[in-house]
Amino acid sequence: MSKRKTPCIVTSEEAQRQEEIIKQLRMKNDLEKSKTGKQKHYYIATFGCQMNAHDSEKLAGMLEQIGYMKTDDEKEADFIIYNTCCVRENAEQKVYGKLGYLKHCKDNNDDLIIAMCGCMMQQETVLNTIKSKYKHVDIIFGTFNIYKLPELLQAYLETKETIIDIWEEHKDIVEDLPSIRKYKFKASVNIMYGCNNFCTYCIVPYVRGRERSREPKDILNEIKELVADGVKEIMLLGQNVNSYGKTLKEKITFAELLRRINEIEGLKRIRFMTSHPKDLSDELIMAMKDCDKVCKSLHLPFQAGSSRILEKMNRKYSKEQYLNLVNKIQEAIPGIALTTDIIVGFPGETEEDFKDTLDIVKKVRFSGAYTFIYSKRTGTPAAIMEEEVPEEVCQRRFNELQEVLQPIVAENSKEFLGKKLEILVEERSKNKDSYLTGRTDSGHLVHFEGDSSLIGQFINVDIIEAKTYYLIGKISDN
Ligand code: 5AD
Ligand code: SF4
Repeated sequence: MSKRKTPCIVTSEEAQRQEEIIKQLRMKNDLEKSKTGKQKHYYIATFGCQMNAHDSEKLAGMLEQIGYMKTDDEKEADFIIYNTCCVRENAEQKVYGKLGYLKHCKDNNDDLIIAMCGCMMQQETVLNTIKSKYKHVDIIFGTFNIYKLPELLQAYLETKETIIDIWEEHKDIVEDLPSIRKYKFKASVNIMYGCNNFCTYCIVPYVRGRERSREPKDILNEIKELVADGVKEIMLLGQNVNSYGKTLKEKITFAELLRRINEIEGLKRIRFMTSHPKDLSDELIMAMKDCDKVCKSLHLPFQAGSSRILEKMNRKYSKEQYLNLVNKIQEAIPGIALTTDIIVGFPGETEEDFKDTLDIVKKVRFSGAYTFIYSKRTGTPAAIMEEEVPEEVCQRRFNELQEVLQPIVAENSKEFLGKKLEILVEERSKNKDSYLTGRTDSGHLVHFEGDSSLIGQFINVDIIEAKTYYLIGKISDN
């Protein structure tokens, strides 16, 4: 666990205000602790994407400065925060399920504070449900004001009334938030927020607002600070990184940003997500090819194979254009590992359309894919489209997709058998004692026997076994 503050970034007024509140809360906390001898704990449950995971790191940073200590045991927590996702319905259902359980925790502990934030909270219907059915929630905020957590907590402690603060749009990009990283040697960095694409199935543009990019100097400074703090690998985050820079006064492309980041001394690996195929330029392909630190892997969601469905999804490319783009990338960067997102059962999807999805999977031969059954999101254009695909058809197509996808992923994995690969060692293996887990440049997971002292280091491993979703290696002799 690594704590960080980015002092070289000009502190915005807003961040300074929160910092003041953090100090006051900290003093109160310390005083209480000296009286009771009890350390207060926080528990954060994060749902959804890497963007949310990174927001949770910022929430954790603030809570630790206030004097709370992390716990993985909800029952031990004095402050519980759910950072929610609403991209698909099942993510929402999970949150409601958990909220029911939290009621018991609150019944057993009057002092417990329960907060909810993230994408779900940006929806009025959800907010109304929580207000009427889950009255034990104390603090509610959205995606645009997570940096206000200290102020909201203070307001709650002073009034003991439910505090709700949801914004319709962002006001500022607040730089200089403290954050807690899970890994000392790798970190996520937001390069932009929001999305302007309005894919017809997707709720993100409604809950995360319009696209806005961070200034390149702020991004570069943050990364330099991270590197000085021991970070070797960064993940650049944005809903659509390929349109980075379009909202800035000083025009800069994502390709140019990558080139500048690539020059940062001490940084070893650069990853990024997510790329929208419609905005992936030749300039970016050249930058990926030229920049030695940019990992040879690319997450390029295609969502659906049929050009007709792609149009209904408002994706702004056809099946042929996607395949041509992939060809161009694979030619420019041989061996690049491609991963994707796929949705089955979008309204109006016929068997023919679905075959196009399978066809893309077979032609591109992805290294991995996140696959989803279409989930209707109220407020999106697709939610009122006719010709809903029956659940059992969706499920059958989903299964069929796995049957085509898995052997391809497994065959790709086998390509690594007998090879020596450089990995960044990340942590102890979750499944096997005495094993560690690392990741290749291509993003493949490798489990191997080794000592914890290797965590955070780059080492070479010989691949001795290839499973569908991971590789088994042995530390290389040379
Ligand atoms: N239903 C199913 N999957 C969805 N995604 C986004 N919205 C929906 C939805 N309504 C998927 C897309 C996207 C990923 C993050 O989630 O594949 O790329
Ligand atoms: Fe959603 Fe499309 Fe934006 Fe991705 S690009 S966040 S799928 S609207």
